[in-house]
Amino acid sequence: MTILRIDSSINGENSASRTLTDSIIGQLKAANLGEQLVTRDLVSSPLPHLTLDAFADSSVLDEFLAADVVVIGAPMYNFSVPSQLKAWIDRIAVAGKTFHYTADGPEGLVKGKRVIVALARGGFYGDGAPAASLEHVETYLKGVFNFIGVEPEFVIAEGLGISPEHRENSLKQAIGEVVLLAA
Ligand SMILES: Cc1cc2nc3c(=O)[nH]c(=O)nc-3n(C[C@H](O)[C@H](O)[C@H](O)COP(=O)(O)O)c2cc1C
Repeated sequence: MTILRIDSSINGENSASRTLTDSIIGQLKAANLGEQLVTRDLVSSPLPHLTLDAFADSSVLDEFLAADVVVIGAPMYNFSVPSQLKAWIDRIAVAGKTFHYTADGPEGLVKGKRVIVALARGGFYGDGAPAASLEHVETYLKGVFNFIGVEPEFVIAEGLGISPEHRENSLKQAIGEVVLLAA
């Protein structure tokens, strides 16, 4: 089993999403669900914006396809995913490789892969929250991964900007969910 870890937070050691991806990787390893770990830090090694030439290089796509489990740290920046993460998605959503169009509509081609998203956001965006319509991280990533054939799992820590106490509690709760995830 190969785990691919993707991080996209600019916040280094203070990053909430990196704390969660750390925790998820730790749990997966403890459960013997990954002998090999491949890491891609999209902040220390950013991918450039997509160009036609970049399509010719399939290394990012091959890395994704080779992984059994993909763990993605996804902070909410300006209501969406960091542009670093968008540049990675631009390389894995590839017609003819991860999806294709049929007479009945698009069909995802990625089979048997587990994708776990560690989502961190400063405010509240759950059902009924006033800002719910501005939530474009969970909805977007679920949409993209469903499109290519994967049902992603989410671990969400939110309200992190409310107060230090709230941040601590929210992270603790999310880490509690991680333990269940790996089981
Ligand atoms: C550039 C930037 C933009 C942000 N935009 C939002 C936002 O639109 N909504 C929100 O709830 N929080 C926003 N936040 C707060 C982050 O989502 C929150 O701090 C989260 O913990 C970030 O995850 P990280 O620590 O892993 O980077 C923003 C933070 C930064 C640095």
